[in-house]
Amino acid sequence: MTKHPVEPFRIKSVEPITQLPRRERERRLSDAGFNLFNIRAADVFIDLLTDSGTSAMSERQWGGLLRGDESYAGCRNFFHLEDVVRDITGYAHVVPTHQGRAAEHLVFSMMLEKGDYVVSNTHFDTTRANVLYRGAIPVDLPDPSCADVSSEYPFKGNIDCARLESFLEEHPGRVKVCLLTITNNSVGGQPLSVANARAAAAICRKHHVPLLFDAARFAENAWFVSQREESQSGRPVKEIARTIFDCGDGCLMSAKKDGLANIGGFVAVRDETLAARIKEMLVVFEGFPTYGGLAGRDLEAVARGLEEVTEPSYLAYRVGQVEWLGERLAQEGATIVRPVGGHAVFIDAGALYPHIPPDEFPGHSLAVGFYREGGIRTVEIGSLMFGDTDPQTHLPTHPAHELVRLAIPRRVYTESHLDYVARTFAAICRQRENARGFTIEYQSPFLRHFTARLRELPVKMPLRAAHN
Ligand code: F0G
Repeated sequence: MTKHPVEPFRIKSVEPITQLPRRERERRLSDAGFNLFNIRAADVFIDLLTDSGTSAMSERQWGGLLRGDESYAGCRNFFHLEDVVRDITGYAHVVPTHQGRAAEHLVFSMMLEKGDYVVSNTHFDTTRANVLYRGAIPVDLPDPSCADVSSEYPFKGNIDCARLESFLEEHPGRVKVCLLTITNNSVGGQPLSVANARAAAAICRKHHVPLLFDAARFAENAWFVSQREESQSGRPVKEIARTIFDCGDGCLMSAKKDGLANIGGFVAVRDETLAARIKEMLVVFEGFPTYGGLAGRDLEAVARGLEEVTEPSYLAYRVGQVEWLGERLAQEGATIVRPVGGHAVFIDAGALYPHIPPDEFPGHSLAVGFYREGGIRTVEIGSLMFGDTDPQTHLPTHPAHELVRLAIPRRVYTESHLDYVARTFAAICRQRENARGFTIEYQSPFLRHFTARLRELPVKMPLRAAHN
């Protein structure tokens, strides 16, 4: 195992975490209807549900909270945030929002009508939901390399430019936005290259389609570019990020990721008229344009987080730590999505549990296994989250892979926490033949994974016995 770069910080304040006894964990699981979203955070030992809003803030950020200016209009923290965002993105108009999906709602309300298209390398779930909410159609055109989870292609987050070009040619005037998600969360936190951003931008310009970035993990993306794209090597991460933003007309940002903050977001655009229209709606739904649904202190935390996140020592540690966990899990026998992404490791549960069919949710079985065995919370990204019913045949449909995501909060866990996660996985592996599938007892009509209640199915015949 290669070592990852040492944490470029020391710990000044700690939050105790405790491991419930196994019997208690079993009780929590059955009380929760085997849905990990229903478990209280206090009953979780290591929480890898998301990297969103879960960062540890720095002393500079905590100090900044005391500099919060809570004036209704024109607070100083807004102007600090505006300066920082302009410096990073080059976009003149900055509109704060309370989080990323509020930015999506505002921008799509201004730019989309019923029947319009949005094309993307891959829409994140809330982004897709906000496009659909406008009656518009989200179209994903990911690079074909991401279909093979084991390929080491360095830019699996790219958009497929050939398909982008043909889609724009086939639907003249119907595509209202091209949205590039950096890094591409839904295909495993994979980066998009500068070359791809430039090529997509040229195609969009030719067809007069505005290009926006979903920039939630822009710094991790720029770090990967600095490590993997020959033409960019040796350039400062912040300059690389700017080169990517230079290709577009604006961005949507969830500051809960690479803003290193616990809440916050923004829209930043070049176009003054669009910004003015967004601000008109902002006043109705979020708040006055200099606070946008946030306290002054939150704006300050985001501004300071953005100043820290492009630090090379931080990014080397951050991305290195996630990669370290991926390699450690692989060492214990996990099949993982490769290359390891910027914010999370994705384990292929279908490969681990070949005896559990997709409609019995092998990914969910592994996620339950992590909690049962080690008090670790992860999230299934497979048939429970994305399974659907074919409208024609009424048969269940399944995504290509049954994955479990282990998202790593920024600056929160140490190597020994993550080693414990890998050891827990090894213990789960030793009992893999006894893992059981699940059936849904209750589900809501949309986003069912958040509220579903499930029942564990009886144990299947062990694989070895089945061969006799
Ligand atoms: N865009 C991307 C790429 C995201 O990953 C998320 C959130 C959002 C937009 C929405 O931002 O949560 O601030 O409203 N992703 C989280 C996750 C929830 O766990 O991956 P938000």
